[in-house]
Amino acid sequence: MPSPHLPPTHRALMQHVYAQPLTVEQVPTPQISPGSAVLRIESAGVISYSRDVYDGTRRYPYPTPLVIGLHAVGRIVALGADAVALKIGMLVFFDSFIRARDDPSVVMLSGFSEVGKAHALMSGEWRDSTYAQFAKVPLENCHPLDEERLCGPPMDGGLGYSKEQLTWIGMALVAYGGLRTIGLQVGETVVVAPATGGFGGAGVLVALAMGAKVIAMGRNKEILDSLSKLSPRVRIVPLAGDAEHELEALTESGPVDAYLDMSPPTASNSTYRKTAIKALRNGGRISLMGGLSSDNDLPLFDIAAKNLTLQGKLMYDFHHIRDMIKLIEGGMLSLDPIKVAGKFGLEQWEEAFGVAAGMKYNEVTVLSGWGETD
Ligand SMILES: NC(=O)c1ccc[n+]([C@@H]2O[C@H](COP(=O)([O-])OP(=O)(O)OC[C@H]3O[C@@H](n4cnc5c(N)ncnc54)[C@H](OP(=O)(O)O)[C@@H]3O)[C@@H](O)[C@H]2O)c1
Repeated sequence: MPSPHLPPTHRALMQHVYAQPLTVEQVPTPQISPGSAVLRIESAGVISYSRDVYDGTRRYPYPTPLVIGLHAVGRIVALGADAVALKIGMLVFFDSFIRARDDPSVVMLSGFSEVGKAHALMSGEWRDSTYAQFAKVPLENCHPLDEERLCGPPMDGGLGYSKEQLTWIGMALVAYGGLRTIGLQVGETVVVAPATGGFGGAGVLVALAMGAKVIAMGRNKEILDSLSKLSPRVRIVPLAGDAEHELEALTESGPVDAYLDMSPPTASNSTYRKTAIKALRNGGRISLMGGLSSDNDLPLFDIAAKNLTLQGKLMYDFHHIRDMIKLIEGGMLSLDPIKVAGKFGLEQWEEAFGVAAGMKYNEVTVLSGWGETD
């Protein structure tokens, strides 16, 4: 039975064969079922390596044909009969990290990757994602946003954010998950490396909002300089290929408390991880979030001798999402520094992937199935 008020078909960005070009198609609109919500997608996030995922470079597993996508901001247009808190018309953040209901250790990234053993999960009910006009998603992945507070004009007590800026929640959450998991405390000092990319830059902004001091490491001096202007609590350490000098600079004010690693695969052989770990105090903590492509040479003696905790982290925990939204709604984590690198229609997916690959640390690129006149 078709859901009321939904058109019979909608436009969606599809991939029919793994790693092959994408096409925009008119397909049947997703229909509501118990446990789900149908969202009208207002703004869906594209990340720096989206192109590398869909052209097969990263070899992320996912089933095809697939309506691709990722985290998004959308409005609820249909709700499963078992919903108790969500309401039609609410603006929500869609968390694309979907956990199997009968085994939360089985996870997938909607429209992006099966992550491990989630083939059945991603092949069935939650197959189609958010680069479309509508998407059917699990109820528990919809997180209500206080639209009046977040998007309202400052003269009425609002924060004046756009839907595009709000998609950055998906970036901030990853860094927040890593920092919460190692228990970053107010007043502590955390090294973020590399700090100049999308998720690393989010790490700097989120750690500041959590009350920490940040040492930002990276190669790009221009971006490091703009990070240092964010707050007197940011200190920068450029990567110059001299590990001894970097360690000296990191520990200038004494050993540091924590390290957030956000390395891309291209930095698999870089030495900054070792330096950052060596800079930690006794009992320091490491959040290892990078997508490294090879086993690494970590300073195991330091890890043992200084009682360090090495904590791997994929994404974030469920309860981190509500806490993160509270930080933003409360004004503790401002989205004012977040700029829109580009907003694209579904047909412009190639251009969107190109712009996203070159985004600055504080930028978002978004796709939307809705034109200005829809
Ligand atoms: N654990 C998780 O749940 C999770 C979730 C999301 C992403 N990640 C990982 O986070 C990684 C970063 O993603 P992103 O979107 O932030 O990427 P990005 O925007 O492309 O940023 C990559 C960063 O790495 C730096 N870099 C690249 N090659 C380097 C090298 N050889 N030596 C030193 N620095 C180097 C870049 O510095 P320059 O500016 O100097 O090039 C930039 O700061 C991803 O590759 C992914 O695997 C993990």
